[in-house]
Amino acid sequence: MGINIIDHPLIQHKLAIIRDIKTNSKDFRSLVSEVGSLLTYEVCKNFQTKKIKVTTPVAEGVFQTLATEVVIVPILRAGLGMVEGIINLIPNAHIGHIGLYRDEKTLEPIVYYQKFPKELKEAVVLLVDPMLATGNSAKKAVEILKAHGAKEIIYVGLVGAPQGANNLSTAFPEVEIFLAAMDSHLNEKGYIVPGLGDCGDRLFGTK
Ligand code: URA
Repeated sequence: MGINIIDHPLIQHKLAIIRDIKTNSKDFRSLVSEVGSLLTYEVCKNFQTKKIKVTTPVAEGVFQTLATEVVIVPILRAGLGMVEGIINLIPNAHIGHIGLYRDEKTLEPIVYYQKFPKELKEAVVLLVDPMLATGNSAKKAVEILKAHGAKEIIYVGLVGAPQGANNLSTAFPEVEIFLAAMDSHLNEKGYIVPGLGDCGDRLFGTK
């Protein structure tokens, strides 16, 4: 358990382009999705497998498949940007959604939507939000998931701030965190510095 920063050259290369203010929405969207895929490869490295019998064109053998269901839960709206990349690697995963927005003044999360597949209770749940800033939204999302019966939750994001990562891991030490980078701090508006700006706005071109 703990906080994992995936310092792979390809991930860091793509993240540098994502961060660049000159990167347009189209490229930003593809790159966020691609980094979602690359992170997923690491996230799954300790997943349990089970043995199954397979007949190849040449012979019968016993091989491994994933032993557990996977449920991907993006926090709306920025989390949506990573879903395609993750599901490309785990095509049988189910998808739930949590809608949260940050109150501009208090920075506290307000819940406006939640919907989960029935597999949530038995699955490994990938909670997806690119920016782990204050950690308040992530904490709220974990509370909601646990209230719906989720037992194993892994947080997957792009960039974190130490404050947010500590906040989440102090409240829920059992939730493993995977990020592409841990940045310096939060500014007075709650943005990660240097970060990448407002991820939702950059994904959906709403600025
Ligand atoms: N959400 C964002 O989109 N960006 C930040 O820097 C912090 C929270």
